[in-house]
Amino acid sequence: MLKILTLTSLLLLTPSLFADVEEGKELFHDADCMSCHNNEDFSPKERKATDYRKLHMAVDACRFANDADWFDDESDSVTEYLNKKYYNFKKK
Ligand code: HEC
Repeated sequence: MLKILTLTSLLLLTPSLFADVEEGKELFHDADCMSCHNNEDFSPKERKATDYRKLHMAVDACRFANDADWFDDESDSVTEYLNKKYYNFKKK
């Protein structure tokens, strides 16, 4: 039941099923990603991701490692958010 309710509210609250920076920002903060990371990790000096695809793979790796209960399009949104805020890669 809870799952159905959560799903319904997600559908109602999610304005678009595509990558959404605002949604990504909320998900990133709700999943407490910054409990391990700081801004420095995503800076050009420290980062390992070298393109959009690798950034997305890193987001997915951390998402699964930390049991973030995201749908794939939510992972897209988090990637979009991090890219806009830190990486500025061209989307391919
Ligand atoms: C338990 C600690 C921990 C948590 C929580 C965590 N991460 Fe990570 N993350 C890491 C570590 C360690 C690495 C480096 C992995 C490597 O270098 O191979 C990393 C790497 C990354 C990178 C790649 C950075 C780069 O360019 O080098 C991204 C993006 C990322 N994490 C996103 C996330 C997101 C999104 C979440 C929230 C779901 C998250 N992380 C939560 C430990 C964590």
